[in-house]
Amino acid sequence: MADCKRRAFFKGAGAALGITATVGGGAALYGMKRAWDPLPSVVAAGVTTVETGAMGAGEIGRVEFRGQPVLIMKKTSEMKPNDNRDVIVNGERFTVIILICTHLGCIPAWTGEIFKCACHGGEFDSSGVNTFGPPPRPMVIPPFKIDGTKLVLGKEGPEYAKLKQANS
Ligand code: FES
Repeated sequence: MADCKRRAFFKGAGAALGITATVGGGAALYGMKRAWDPLPSVVAAGVTTVETGAMGAGEIGRVEFRGQPVLIMKKTSEMKPNDNRDVIVNGERFTVIILICTHLGCIPAWTGEIFKCACHGGEFDSSGVNTFGPPPRPMVIPPFKIDGTKLVLGKEGPEYAKLKQANS
């Protein structure tokens, strides 16, 4: 009898755990999807135009630019500004990087504070600057031009030339 009760308890607990895991997994997937939703963008002749106007602080979007993953993150006031790396669009600071680790080419993940590369433990700050581990240099800022609240990847505007010079 006691054995039957124990079995029933474990069965119930197992079902409850299953439900919790499903809900938790669903929430994590939803969060991941929100963080990685593609930004509204238009691709034409090697140029990708991205609308940043509706992005909230801390929001992350991605676009594909010439076959490479580009991450665009609107910085929050808690994130350290970096005048040599930040892309200023309509007075707001953005991190715009080709999301490829400069060590051996893995794709780092944003943890909420840093970019962490799972392959060999490399770390980058919120501006994409290497801070720990084997990556030898910051992640690359793709060529861009600013047009109002739009970021035009693939055209080199004066803002890009300034950052390029600061990083050379
Ligand atoms: S590929 Fe990123 S640390 Fe090695």
